[in-house]
Amino acid sequence: MEMTPQRWANTSAYLREVFGREDEQLSTLMARAVAAGLPAIAVSADVGRLLKLLTSLTNSGRGARLVLELGTLAGYSGIWLARGMAPSGKLITVEFEPRHAAFARAEFDRAGLGAAVDIRTGAALEVIPVIADQLRAGSLPAPAFDVIFFDAVKTEYPEYFRLCKPLLAPGGLLIADNILGSSFWIDDPPGSSPQRDAVDAFNRLVAADPDFEAAGVPIREGIMIARKIR
Ligand SMILES: C[S@@+](CC[C@H](N)C(=O)[O-])C[C@H]1O[C@@H](n2cnc3c(N)ncnc32)[C@H](O)[C@@H]1O
Repeated sequence: MEMTPQRWANTSAYLREVFGREDEQLSTLMARAVAAGLPAIAVSADVGRLLKLLTSLTNSGRGARLVLELGTLAGYSGIWLARGMAPSGKLITVEFEPRHAAFARAEFDRAGLGAAVDIRTGAALEVIPVIADQLRAGSLPAPAFDVIFFDAVKTEYPEYFRLCKPLLAPGGLLIADNILGSSFWIDDPPGSSPQRDAVDAFNRLVAADPDFEAAGVPIREGIMIARKIR
């Protein structure tokens, strides 16, 4: 069966329709964010549910104790992630734009997740080492992250991986959005964009890493799910 652009669009719409059920807050969140001037670049509802499901399966099925997200935007994916955590779980989410962080703060509070979510404003490459120091000092609620989700700057994915690998618990999940496309698509020629090449390098890096078991899931713009096996 041939995959045409129309069939891909229909397939994505079908997945959203069948698997993308949302509550009232989530179904209106991005429209409110766009009205407030934020860009419409959140994950889709079916991807959000996958994030929640995966997060709930970590920590031996009890739900994640500690989750790290890079790229908060309006809090849409963060709410899904936080809903998959253990009851005492914490989400640390990193956002460069103070305006995005402020919008997301209000949404986390509205979702009843105010105490569970810690938004760090700054550039991910600067904030991750601070978080690593806090983990080492024992000042975070768990000694390592059960889930780390990449969704900030695509050209920085290989560096995020280098910095975040030691922060992930054995058995923990690394999840990354846009492993097939964003402003690029993965079958564009090598060298056609720094984003494409960085994401391709990241995909190959994780796939070849003996400490990870990784899969690429062709949903929306592509999600990587990689389990740290040791
Ligand atoms: C694709 S959006 C995140 C979408 C969000 N994860 C969701 O699905 O609801 C990427 C976000 O990363 C933020 N960002 C850009 N540069 C960043 C950086 N260096 N560090 C952290 N966040 C950054 C952008 O401001 C934007 O809000």
